[in-house]
Amino acid sequence: MLDTDSFKKVFLSELDKAASTSELQQVRIKYLGKKGLLTAQLKNLSTMPAEEKRSFGKAVNELKGFVENEIALKESALGNADLKKRLSSETIDVTLPGKYTPVGREHPINKVLREIEDIFISMGFGVEEGPQVELDYYNFEALNMPKDHPARDMQDTFYITDDVILRTHTSPVQIRTMEKKKPPLRFIAPGKVYRCDADISHTPMFHQVEGLMVDTDISFSDLKGVLETFIHRIFNPETSVRFRPSFFPFTEPSAEVDIGCIFCKGSGCQVCKGTGWLEILGAGMVNPRVFEMVGYNPAIYTGFAFGMGVERITMLKYGIDDIRLFFENDLRFLRQF
Ligand code: PHE
Repeated sequence: MLDTDSFKKVFLSELDKAASTSELQQVRIKYLGKKGLLTAQLKNLSTMPAEEKRSFGKAVNELKGFVENEIALKESALGNADLKKRLSSETIDVTLPGKYTPVGREHPINKVLREIEDIFISMGFGVEEGPQVELDYYNFEALNMPKDHPARDMQDTFYITDDVILRTHTSPVQIRTMEKKKPPLRFIAPGKVYRCDADISHTPMFHQVEGLMVDTDISFSDLKGVLETFIHRIFNPETSVRFRPSFFPFTEPSAEVDIGCIFCKGSGCQVCKGTGWLEILGAGMVNPRVFEMVGYNPAIYTGFAFGMGVERITMLKYGIDDIRLFFENDLRFLRQF
């Protein structure tokens, strides 16, 4: 005979031990599965005498109902516990402070570079680029500086081979662009240049902006007008401008352009070394020899060129006294711009 009381007792203690839905599933299989304990009891029925069958069948079915009911109760209890656990572990504390995402900003050199570009673009200039690893031919030769020219000494050159160098200025872009295009031309060429030099006002890499304008009737007064307009916009409209005779092999005549010292307004200070003037760029009328090198007829075309250092202009604009600050990546410095 089936001892339903002790059966229930064993079942209930096993049920009690089931602490998760998967453990509960094991209990369900053990009792109600195809090979489960209750299923096995029902199979006994067929071999029983008829008078026992009735009461035995009834007892087993009752037991089955009991087991099913208990399992269902336990299941919903476990489900509630699971839900509670998930709800408490997955809550979001909306009062916690947010994550700090630092915001980057433009480097001061790029910022000023962009201002320079914007000013020239507004005057109708295009923008050209050239390689930083350059041939001797474009950096020197085609700019009227043959191999033994003393002007080469002014530019402390990084050599890669005898013929391949790091460009020492952006002037080679003049040649490359004139080789590609016919006049009239009006463009600037911004970019990195390299010289083997390092101190408070020199770094081995720095930035220049070249300018070139070529047409049939470009004169020195066009050069003055364009550069004065530029200087008044990049500094301020009251800035005085001075052209001083100078020499570059690729321009003739050549000039060094100074601005009235923006720190002492011309009365003389440490920055302008008492002169009242600050040198900011080199310029001149394109040397006819350069036109010949690129196949332009110097009897027809004239032009002007200029080249400026972006670090120098940025230092003057913001009163920075050491060029190396631009490349140390000290955030305390960079965050000020
Ligand atoms: N390339 C010259 C330099 O770097 C600057 C310059 C450019 C001068 C164009 C005249 C004309 O020193």
